[in-house]
Amino acid sequence: MRMYDLIQKKRDGGELSEKEIRWFIEGYTKGEIPDYQVSALCMAIYFRGMTLEETTALTFAVRDSGERLDFSEIHGLRVDKHSTGGVGDKTSLVVAPIVASLGVKVAKMSGRGLGHTGGTIDKLEAIPGFRTDIPVDEFKDIVNETGIAIVGQNATLAPADKLLYALRDVTATVDSLPLIVSSIMGKKLAADDDCIVLDVKTGSGSFMKTLEKSRELAEWMVEIGKRAGKRVRALITDMGTPLGYAIGNSLEVVEAIHTLQGKGPADLTELCLELSAHILALAEKGTYEECLQMAKNAISTGAGLQTFAKMVEGQGGNPAWILQPENFPVAKYSRTVVAKESGYIHSVDAEGYGVASLLLGAGRNTKEDVIDPTAGIYLKAKTGDYVRAGDPIAVLYSGKESGFAAAEERLLASTHISAEKPEAIPLVLAVVE
Ligand code: URA
Repeated sequence: MRMYDLIQKKRDGGELSEKEIRWFIEGYTKGEIPDYQVSALCMAIYFRGMTLEETTALTFAVRDSGERLDFSEIHGLRVDKHSTGGVGDKTSLVVAPIVASLGVKVAKMSGRGLGHTGGTIDKLEAIPGFRTDIPVDEFKDIVNETGIAIVGQNATLAPADKLLYALRDVTATVDSLPLIVSSIMGKKLAADDDCIVLDVKTGSGSFMKTLEKSRELAEWMVEIGKRAGKRVRALITDMGTPLGYAIGNSLEVVEAIHTLQGKGPADLTELCLELSAHILALAEKGTYEECLQMAKNAISTGAGLQTFAKMVEGQGGNPAWILQPENFPVAKYSRTVVAKESGYIHSVDAEGYGVASLLLGAGRNTKEDVIDPTAGIYLKAKTGDYVRAGDPIAVLYSGKESGFAAAEERLLASTHISAEKPEAIPLVLAVVE
């Protein structure tokens, strides 16, 4: 087989066979196919797309490119939740402890920030001492002891995705449906969870900007998960505006703690409860309504918060920080951004908010960048709120002042104020089973 022929076939709109797809993934993982040919194929896939059959073959090839984990030593049903990536999306920090407090095992492997979106592992590393790089055997022991652990992806898990991801990130081929499906599901299927709930984001802060595309993404991920024998459900949720008020690692951990204390923002609380209820229902803990009530109780009794503190302790962090979040340091510098005109915040470009947060140090512009855990944005007004000219709309936080001007400019350019009050958009737009 020749890579040239595969590129040409896809470029001309042909369908790759399972054999061809496996050959290319295996060759690329072994370092036998150069990046420039894989870049060309990714671009051809970006423009020509892939059929469901091709995408399934690509997903399974990514899954099989490294070690497939065996979680059978973890007692009980294992669940996972995965978001396709958003801005201010700290739901995993709330949902995982809630469902673990209700008796399902959370054995979760998460990623770092990607493009303008934040990553759970970067957020958890804002907790001093918290270890995310834990060997698989210790990870399984922690889940058996405490019911929950969230770690970074094991180096041998789906290595083809690591290579492909880094390549896509720099060749403008991230937002391709078959490439997203195979990246996410390839990793999820290489881990060994029984139930997977996917939070498929749609709107300006997500990789899929239209509801139609997000629905297709959700349907394909669910279908491929089922073909692999998993219980999978997807929620399509709005990412037209950041979730909650906090964007940035420490700020988001504190907001997640407040949510587990029952005093979180309404949108974040609603989505966390919905996701928790769907996970619990998939794990057969009760009907959806019963599971929703159980999730609410886990917040009101403090059981979810206690489980979060237990998880932090199990992974080497100080649980006192979870129970007293005022311990988290505040950034050395801050700057308030004010509205330039009066009116309703009609819409925001959530991706622009994500980029503004990166500019402050909350994410990476290059692979080598070190994250400032205190950096980020705290919103003072959200879509639908009325502001007067001069009212604060956000506070920027950073350990250095040099990023403020660019971040402020980006944030203001991403905030659209108008005399007209926007229509409220539901947070959960659809459930795909
Ligand atoms: N998250 C992933 O892991 N991969 C993608 O392609 C997009 C989001």
